[in-house]
Amino acid sequence: MKISKIHAVFFSPAGGTLKVLNAFLSALPLPAEKIDITPFSSSVQSRTFGAEELVVFAAPVYAGRIVPLAIQRFAALHGNHTPAVCLAVYGNRAYEDALLELADLAKQNAFVPFAAAAALAQHSIMRRVAAGRPDKDDEAQLVDFAKQVWRKLAQAQSAAVLSVPAVPGKRPYKDFKAVGFVPEASAACTRCGRCAAHCPSGAIDPSSPDQTDKARCIFCMGCVSVCPVRARNANKALLWAAEKAFAFKYGARQEPEFFL
Ligand SMILES: Cc1cc2nc3c(=O)[nH]c(=O)nc-3n(C[C@H](O)[C@H](O)[C@H](O)COP(=O)(O)O)c2cc1C
Repeated sequence: MKISKIHAVFFSPAGGTLKVLNAFLSALPLPAEKIDITPFSSSVQSRTFGAEELVVFAAPVYAGRIVPLAIQRFAALHGNHTPAVCLAVYGNRAYEDALLELADLAKQNAFVPFAAAAALAQHSIMRRVAAGRPDKDDEAQLVDFAKQVWRKLAQAQSAAVLSVPAVPGKRPYKDFKAVGFVPEASAACTRCGRCAAHCPSGAIDPSSPDQTDKARCIFCMGCVSVCPVRARNANKALLWAAEKAFAFKYGARQEPEFFL
């Protein structure tokens, strides 16, 4: 089948998911329209894609699931027997039900999730875990996967005959219970507002960006990753201790997995 357009829809507060997505997209022969559903202000418009378009969904794993905010935003997008690739990106602990959840959502919304991957990126909270990932080896595997994805599309007569691979995970999905640290702004904050514009949950008021609404924060570390003066951080002492224990338990390198 011939693909006329590629769209890449992504949720990537700390940028790791976007790196994985870019490595994958780099090996596809058409440029992709990027649809960033990360910021609170992104207000995703309801949209339907056609049977000759390819949609790539990419999201990070939080507590073995896809964060509900991302699910809500993905849910505004519908297919019409539209081929889809699902990418769940995790920080070297486990992806549990996240990839299955993403593939299920795609199916519910009339996409055909004919390819999926669980790939790795630096842990956005415990940054010493999977540091530097995706690395060259991950990128080479993602490039190879993208070529296989394109070959599978080229060999199919239509999206209706594309096989949908089984992916790991259990239904009902595990309860979503993400825990983390609420980043605070230090005196170095220049109130530039970049964090507020990037925050996925509207936890940072643009008129007082040195404040964080703890009840809204999803612990994604997006504000930490975009702050140009590194004024935002989680409590360093608590994080140091948690990171040490986490790295000891989950430090052994995991490899990406591909399903076609
Ligand atoms: C609140 C939260 C929960 C997370 N839960 C998991 C998890 O269950 N398993 C895992 O391996 N990584 C977990 N991670 C790490 C992220 O999946 C990983 O760092 C991902 O690359 C983040 O995507 P981003 O850089 O695009 O924001 C979690 C990160 C956060 C912020």
